[in-house]
Amino acid sequence: MNSTKEKIAKILIENKNNFISGEFISSELGISRASIWKHINSLRSEGFEIESKNKVGYKLILNDENTISEYEIMHDLNTQIIGRSTHYFKSIDSTNTYAHKIAGSSEDGTLIVAEEQTAGRGRTGRYWFSKMEEGLYFSLILKPEIPIMKSSFLTQVAGASLLKALDRLGVNSSIKWPNDIILNKKKISGILTEMSAEIDRISYIIIGIGINLYGKNFDDSISQKATSIENEGYNIKRLDFIKSFCEEFEKMYIEFLSDDTDHILQILRDRSEILWKEVFIIRGDKKEKVFAKDIDRSGNLIVSYPDGREEGIFTGEVSIRGLDSYV
Ligand code: BTN
Repeated sequence: MNSTKEKIAKILIENKNNFISGEFISSELGISRASIWKHINSLRSEGFEIESKNKVGYKLILNDENTISEYEIMHDLNTQIIGRSTHYFKSIDSTNTYAHKIAGSSEDGTLIVAEEQTAGRGRTGRYWFSKMEEGLYFSLILKPEIPIMKSSFLTQVAGASLLKALDRLGVNSSIKWPNDIILNKKKISGILTEMSAEIDRISYIIIGIGINLYGKNFDDSISQKATSIENEGYNIKRLDFIKSFCEEFEKMYIEFLSDDTDHILQILRDRSEILWKEVFIIRGDKKEKVFAKDIDRSGNLIVSYPDGREEGIFTGEVSIRGLDSYV
């Protein structure tokens, strides 16, 4: 948190629902009353409800315990890289699209969060339903100094972090390799990883995640395979979720950057919905029954065919389905 406005927001959040005097803010930050007033109005225009009382000071009203803002996300966030710079939007076309626009001038770990997307994108060109009040849609801009061939493993890092973040909030989910988070056999979250690279060097990677926290009604096209966390009987707050995710992701991102992926792979194997089972792999129009044997150190799915042949499947090449249901 660097700007004066961010510092004022931090003080207000720390004293939420209580008055804090202008004199206190002024002496803490070494700024004039006029400057405080200007920033308070700017915070109000961003949607904060701030009461002001002559000779008493300012009070941030946070009655809705499920609010979210960049200041609240960054406040007391226990990370060094992830989310240290956060951009929040009530509504946006797509957090991944916005991430591409600002990636060049953004630092590693920059987070973009929205409560609604009007043009959310899923894998393989599909639409990602991103309604207000239903979920959280966010993207991370990453700038790791790693060989290009290692980049796809970041989808696995994100998957393992989602599992762990949900564990912390009491939701025991599983993963359908490579990028679907599953609760009671239905999808609650998906990951879309995109990259911009030169011939031999990564410029940046964007990990986009949509999570269905509260949705009740699902479009016919997805109602058989999608659910929300609330639909399955859990209630988790947006802010708790995004903070837990950032903290879990950072731990695993650091492990990944130091080539220490055993812990991540263990989570992915232990919590897999498809390993040690027969599943269908779908490549374009072709659907084949295989046995899902393992996830290798590069994050590829090792499958065996009925004729005994084995193959490592690269993330992003295929879709996986259960023999008679989604997983
Ligand atoms: C999937 O197809 O399962 C991946 C879905 C990824 C959706 C997220 S929501 C935030 C980010 N912005 C987008 O437009 N897509 C990703």
